[in-house]
Amino acid sequence: MDGLTLALTKGRLAGRTIDLFIRAGVVREEMREILNEASRRLVFSSEEPNLSFFMAKAQDVPTYVDYGAADVGIAGKDTLLEEERNLYEVLDLGFGACRLVVAGREETRDRLRHGNNLRVATKYPHIALDYFGRKKQQTVEIVRLNGSVELAPIIGLADVIVDIVETGSTLAENDLCILEEITPLSARMVVNRASMKMQRVHIAELITKLRNALEKRDGTEVELR
Ligand code: PRP
Repeated sequence: MDGLTLALTKGRLAGRTIDLFIRAGVVREEMREILNEASRRLVFSSEEPNLSFFMAKAQDVPTYVDYGAADVGIAGKDTLLEEERNLYEVLDLGFGACRLVVAGREETRDRLRHGNNLRVATKYPHIALDYFGRKKQQTVEIVRLNGSVELAPIIGLADVIVDIVETGSTLAENDLCILEEITPLSARMVVNRASMKMQRVHIAELITKLRNALEKRDGTEVELR
């Protein structure tokens, strides 16, 4: 097969991904309009040769790439850590920067440091289990939630949460704070293992274009200061 299929993450990352692709000359400006106008449309073809795109839910992007339905994926590092797929992570795109943390009420800090049997609510059960079980050697009970995780320590469902913090305003507005930091996060480009060999030339070209655009932007920012 000649040409690349790219899986993009719907939602917050989509706009930033298209911005970068336009800056890098991977797609034309019209692509943004197509995206905006047809917000329910899932599959797009670029006018550029050899590229097609589709939009998927964050957690599904690594799955599509792992199975080879997409050669390349753009996904948050949080999703990649949680899904534990066997992919090549080739580029840090810089945007979508945030942190994965353990958060809760300030008074939980001591128990969190020393105690066992804490209950942890999260959208990221694998990451949470790895952090507490393997890194901290603490026994915890994980409760999987699908959103608004900050509710859990307020309502009394869990002692702490493992979640993403970007601006910190959701925590602050709910009288919660960061108790431990697990890892910084940002959007990454990932590649299917077979595609890396079969589509070597196209993928190398895409990486070079994106990397140049990222470096150019960084350079411009430095000049403007
Ligand atoms: C994410 C995350 C936090 C919030 C953090 O949730 O789970 O709740 O953003 O952002 P902040 O530090 O800028 O306040 P999201 O908005 O994706 O919604 P969800 O909780 O329903 O998953």
